[in-house]
Amino acid sequence: MSPHVFYNPENCRNEAEVESKFIVYYLLPALGYDPSNWYQEVTVGRLRLDFLASANAQNQQSNRRQIVIEAKHPKQNLDRHLRKFRQYIETVQAQYGLLINGREIRVYERCGNTIELRLNLAGYEIVDRLPEIQQLVGRHTLQHHLPPISLPASILETKSAMKVIAVYHNKGGVGKTTTVINLAAALSKRGKRVLVIDLDSQANTTYALGLVKFQDESADDIRDRYVYNVIVNRNKFPIAEVVRKSDFCNPSIDVIPSHIDLMEKEQELVLIDAARTRLVKKLEEVDSTYDIVLIDTPPSLNLYARIALIAADYILIPSDLKPFANEGLRNVQRFITEIDEFRDSLGRKPLEILGVLASKVATHAKFVEHTLPKMEAVIEERYGFRMLRTRIFERRDVSTAIENSIEVGDLDIPNPKSVLDFRPNSPSAQEFEDLAKEVLVLIREL
Ligand SMILES: Nc1ncnc2c1ncn2[C@@H]1O[C@H](COP(=O)(O)OP(=O)(O)O)[C@@H](O)[C@H]1O
Ligand SMILES: [Mg+2]
Repeated sequence: MSPHVFYNPENCRNEAEVESKFIVYYLLPALGYDPSNWYQEVTVGRLRLDFLASANAQNQQSNRRQIVIEAKHPKQNLDRHLRKFRQYIETVQAQYGLLINGREIRVYERCGNTIELRLNLAGYEIVDRLPEIQQLVGRHTLQHHLPPISLPASILETKSAMKVIAVYHNKGGVGKTTTVINLAAALSKRGKRVLVIDLDSQANTTYALGLVKFQDESADDIRDRYVYNVIVNRNKFPIAEVVRKSDFCNPSIDVIPSHIDLMEKEQELVLIDAARTRLVKKLEEVDSTYDIVLIDTPPSLNLYARIALIAADYILIPSDLKPFANEGLRNVQRFITEIDEFRDSLGRKPLEILGVLASKVATHAKFVEHTLPKMEAVIEERYGFRMLRTRIFERRDVSTAIENSIEVGDLDIPNPKSVLDFRPNSPSAQEFEDLAKEVLVLIREL
């Protein structure tokens, strides 16, 4: 007999059972959601949602088809959690929220700045009244019969399907490249079509993605086709002609490589006004080829950083939270303001700041417990940037994965891997998976 027929969530003894026995095994499947469209323990900013379910089909990204689900202990009074719950719904701008303690199941809908109770039923009624919940928040309903719009149009507005994220900080060594490559791997594993653009003339990303296969300059196959070509000319070198595949992770990702020559090309490119917006134009042409574009940037305020921030929709700021990196945030803030002014003149929306990502963080328990939260608070209070909830710790696996090589005859050939491929069960792999989830929520792709 199907467990759907006889089910009483009032038998759940604690919050974990409400989550597993009721929400995961009964409610989500009963509402038509399968594991590919719900996520557990999703971090958003400083919040951690129990569940986020999405009725969006691929390439849809309406928040109206998203549901936040919070589980509570059966003895908890749901009223006491309403304020927090509303905050969750507002933060992800989901349209619906389910608040559940097993004894009680409530369905809320977001209306402007408040949430309204749409349905309230006792746990034991669930089987009989399931159709009412399905009617409101079932996957089928949200996909096919969207309820009347009660949201401002700006929230529903969907840009192109493709989202461009620049990973930027004007200080070097804070983990930008490491973030770009491993986040790209994590997103690719989540089924996203990912393009990485290396706009740093140090070409660390290009190297880390395994594209520098030659030992001798004479065999250099990057120089004639790299990010410079994309920028220098409007009509030649569309992105499709410049991209290479990287098997640094599985599934593979596409890459527009950089080259050390990019440094000296800056003098030529600064004289071409249109060079600043060519990446924007060329990205429009691959709008349906990729879901997410990650741009790695130089640790500077130079032309390439500018090009990246003009082309991006979002900026993610990795930081080791050390004093110089913190002080650098003031430059980042000023730079963003200046870029926004230019974007405005192009009719582009301001850059959306995803926040500061704590990166290369020391792992000592004492530090993590006492010092780190204070450092994070400083970023939010003094510099006005939101901290991402995910933290990337400094761990050997991350650097060893990049330094991986294979022996071919008596040669050691570089064979860098993402940490998710190199050590899939490591804490680092988990951190980048968490980062991918958090970023997807922030860019409203979940
Ligand atoms: N989470 C981490 N754990 C261990 N080593 C790291 C981590 N993040 C970065 N590194 C190392 O720190 C150095 C600088 O990181 P990188 O990502 O290149 O910074 P950036 O691009 O900001 O200059 C590199 O050698 C890299 O391997
Ligand atoms: Mg770098």
